[in-house]
Amino acid sequence: MEHQTLYERIGGDAALRQLTDKFYDLVFEHELISRLFKSDKDLIKEKQRLFLTQFLGGPQAYSDVYGHPMMRARHMPHTITEEDAVAWLQCMASAVESLSLPEDLKNELFDRFPRTAFFMVNS
Ligand code: HEM
Repeated sequence: MEHQTLYERIGGDAALRQLTDKFYDLVFEHELISRLFKSDKDLIKEKQRLFLTQFLGGPQAYSDVYGHPMMRARHMPHTITEEDAVAWLQCMASAVESLSLPEDLKNELFDRFPRTAFFMVNS
């Protein structure tokens, strides 16, 4: 099993659909960070699902459609503070927790996010 990607081990596309559904339901209701999300909820879910596919070792789904991720640059138009990153991570922690996966796999999945989230802080 060691050779499988994290994308495959969590259950591939079906798992990422569940994760992004739950995640953006929480984000769009969040008292602090919902203010940042003004565009279409289904579109951002879809973009995040494609991005996470490649972020977790699956096919280059996001790049195929949108080009180089340049995630920090793409977040620059939004004012993101450290507090926002913490809130984003709390939503992600709850979304990961909602998946039916072994605890150690959930922890491994969540551990992929904090570094990237704090990298997006730009204010
Ligand atoms: C630090 C906290 C973060 C905040 C507050 C934040 C906020 C945002 C906002 C406001 C957008 C634009 C949404 C829209 O179009 O309405 C966005 C887009 C996006 N974010 Fe984040 N983000 C954060 C962290 C992350 C992280 C850690 C990832 C990846 C693991 C990520 C992945 C994406 C993706 C893939 C998009 C879509 C980019 C595109 O337009 O193609 N974000 N984010």
